[in-house]
Amino acid sequence: KRILIINGPNLNLLGTREPGIYGAQTLADIGQLCADTGTELGLSIDFRQSNHEGELVSWIQDAGKDADAIIINPAAYSHTSVAIHDALKAVGLPTVEVHLSNIHQREAFRHHSYVSAVATGVICGLGAAGYTLALRALAEKL
Ligand code: DQA
Repeated sequence: KRILIINGPNLNLLGTREPGIYGAQTLADIGQLCADTGTELGLSIDFRQSNHEGELVSWIQDAGKDADAIIINPAAYSHTSVAIHDALKAVGLPTVEVHLSNIHQREAFRHHSYVSAVATGVICGLGAAGYTLALRALAEKL
């Protein structure tokens, strides 16, 4: 089974970006963790990041053709993007929304995510473990 893992804007800065909130791990570290977990679970992992909303939408659309599930950290677009909500709804794949931080503990503008309504499940506040937990949940589901 193929899992597309999509990371949104500013997540390329992990490691140096607000480490008190997001941790010291880089995005490459998290990608490696996901690759290792994929090998353990027998899943093929495609791990990507973009700062561009339209590119994220196109990747979701393409996943409808060649992936079995999606894990997405939409980052700031969680709180703004009807386009990402619509794309996930159109594709209809099992989807887990992941946030490194606990968005409910933070500023009010982070409390609502447009993605949650179209996600199969949501994990937040567990750091990089959120990604591997999402992979384990999808491995059981698929
Ligand atoms: C985030 C939380 C978002 O509110 C924020 O805009 C991010 C990262 C997280 O992983 O905790 O960029 O999605």
